[in-house]
Amino acid sequence: MRFFDYLDGTLCAEAVPLAKIAAAVGTPVHVYSHATLEHHFKVMKAAFGDLPVHICYAVKANSNRAVIATMAALGAGADTVSEGEIRRALHAGIAPQGIVFAGVGKTDQELRFAIETKVRQINIESMSELERISTIAAELGQVQDVCIRVNPDVGAGGHAKITTGKASNKFGVSQDLAEKLYGLADQMPGVRPVGLSVHIGSQIIDLAPMELAYQKLADCVVRLRTRGLDVFRLDLGGGLAATYDENGIGPDLAAYGTMVRKLVGHLDVELEIEPGRLIAANAGVLVSRVIVTKENGGKSFLVVDAAMNDLIRPALYEAYHQLLPIQQARPDAALTPIDVVGPVCETGDTFAEERLMPPIQSGELLAFMSTGAYGFAMASTYNSRPLAAEVMVSGDRWQVVRPRQSYEDMFGTEILPDWL
Ligand code: LLP
Repeated sequence: MRFFDYLDGTLCAEAVPLAKIAAAVGTPVHVYSHATLEHHFKVMKAAFGDLPVHICYAVKANSNRAVIATMAALGAGADTVSEGEIRRALHAGIAPQGIVFAGVGKTDQELRFAIETKVRQINIESMSELERISTIAAELGQVQDVCIRVNPDVGAGGHAKITTGKASNKFGVSQDLAEKLYGLADQMPGVRPVGLSVHIGSQIIDLAPMELAYQKLADCVVRLRTRGLDVFRLDLGGGLAATYDENGIGPDLAAYGTMVRKLVGHLDVELEIEPGRLIAANAGVLVSRVIVTKENGGKSFLVVDAAMNDLIRPALYEAYHQLLPIQQARPDAALTPIDVVGPVCETGDTFAEERLMPPIQSGELLAFMSTGAYGFAMASTYNSRPLAAEVMVSGDRWQVVRPRQSYEDMFGTEILPDWL
């Protein structure tokens, strides 16, 4: 379903023209569609049918509280990887019992905060982490539910930088060690092992690697139970791809649901999944204005007012984002190749090379599509560019959900040392 489309020749978010938002708020601006977020959650849920699945939205994809609150209202939990994300999830209305705390390097302070908060579960990534959690929880007189994160030695995902499931990656522990830790955890005073978790990568279209990983997880469950250990929860991670290009190629969610049912449905475990991108990517666009067009070395450039600090995915992962003019091009408009770049002083600040585009003039508006996940969430103020504004649309309503950063907010808290 498309919630960003042309109405009367102008690109809209649901029923709101993006040009109207740009005129009121300025550019660059990230615009999110509430209906798309809801739609993706429901499609994901439906893929599992009657399987008991707790959907923990991966907050890292888009951590604006309006987005998390949209998920909370649908009954989602949260997958978090820092104290900041736990705090955001709580602020946005997700109950502690819905929050999973994951991540390869959790500090003692973060662990203490999570345990005191009584989060649903902490996913363990090493022996020392398990010991630290048990010690802190016991000090607090609590028992923390934990899952052991298995590294199944299965690679997957759209780019080497986002593959997490190979043995050589920093994430999780081997199956053998996971089973050993499970037994040890069972004897520790401050923890209760409840299950296993896995996450092998992101932007996964082909389900085969996930199937392999889940099979390994299921095998672990059987072995642990044979040893008399109780295992009643599996966290299947996130990673399902969003469609970024015009061809609309993405994972088959119905097939995913069927695969999960086949592999772990008979184990009588509660399930968790942690989708981020699938929920948020196509629920957002980044609207930018063309500053100038120029020719250089035989090439044509479109310099826009968004940059790698607003959307780093193309620079970091060679990611593709569809680019649409806000004013719909005439169907017979000639397309010419053009490099679309931002103003940051790096050649890496390139969004698209030789992209076929209709004629576009300075001052016109463009939308980078599918930027709702890992767009604003990865933004910085590099080149002292303020963080862009964020807006959420619902039907014909829209509201700023985070104003553009002021210069005062950007550097007003910096302190000059006494000797200057
Ligand atoms: N669970 C865990 C343990 C994760 O590490 C991640 C993502 C997710 C869930 C959510 O994955 P998703 O469903 O969104 O694929 N910045 C990169 C993506 C990094 C993903 C990191 N981990 C990008 O823009 O492509």
